Amino acid sequence: MESGELQDAVRAALADRGEPVSKLGYFCAPFRPESGPLADQVVKTYRGGRDRELLERLGERHDAYLACLLEAGVRVPETQFLLLEEAGGWRPVILQDALPPETMLRPQIEAAGPDHLVQLLEEAARSIADFWQAVADRPERIGYHPSIRNFARDEGGMIFFDTFPPLISYSRAEMGQLLLRFSESSLIRGLGPLLPGRIRAIQDEWYSPAGTVVGLIGSAVRLRPDDREAILTWARGFAETLPGDMRAEVLAELDAPPRLPAIWTATRRILGLEGKPNV
Ligand SMILES: Nc1ncnc2c1ncn2[C@@H]1O[C@H](COP(=O)(O)OP(=O)(O)O)[C@@H](O)[C@H]1O
Ligand SMILES: [Mg+2]
Repeated sequence: MESGELQDAVRAALADRGEPVSKLGYFCAPFRPESGPLADQVVKTYRGGRDRELLERLGERHDAYLACLLEAGVRVPETQFLLLEEAGGWRPVILQDALPPETMLRPQIEAAGPDHLVQLLEEAARSIADFWQAVADRPERIGYHPSIRNFARDEGGMIFFDTFPPLISYSRAEMGQLLLRFSESSLIRGLGPLLPGRIRAIQDEWYSPAGTVVGLIGSAVRLRPDDREAILTWARGFAETLPGDMRAEVLAELDAPPRLPAIWTATRRILGLEGKPNV
């Protein structure tokens, strides 16, 4: 589609937007148009504004991050970023091929028998470790947010679909700003000036290879509390296979009970997203 046509298609889809696919996103509530040229897509819209430079840089970084994920061997559905022109400025929009609901990883993990559960976790954890290995020599500051809720899985294996915010080439301070700038919650945006350090810290797990693996294990335990021992036994075995630094860090964390980073738990409570873990 030409870019003008694409803008029109997105505007039309937004105008008769149905129920969101998910209400649990931090940055967006994706939806799938029922008809029209975007019917096989998920549309993710983010907070717009007049800060054109920041938004254009965001678009460049999104393209760079998508390329980085793909080069690292991560499977990502066909994804494109655009800035939708609006009266009040520009709104970032991500269009992504819609994945069938039954491919979402979280319900698969909830439903799996004990052996399958461990197999799913092994695949997810392996794909995370492979990503970090693939980007290890890159010069940019790169992060990854491979939470159970950000994965799908089909016959071809794991699929990662959360490309926002683009975790490439932003400093920690800049990413802290983006977390506030693009939060859907006015409460979070309002808390920013009061708790800048705590909001900034949300990203730290995403930039820690061991942190992302431990985050996955912690979420699995919270999703499947009765299988805690089996999960932790598998996790220790898995950790032993990791390269040096990551292995030591993951094993050390496993000796303490896995938990959500306190700030994220607090954020989720504030946002009223408690219940089924998201990370
Ligand atoms: N391509 C997709 N196909 C189907 N569902 C999707 C797709 N992308 C996102 N979703 C649903 O929307 C939720 C939030 O999307 P995500 O991209 O992770 O946004 P956020 O950055 O707000 O977490 C996902 O957990 C999933 O349930
Ligand atoms: Mg997500």
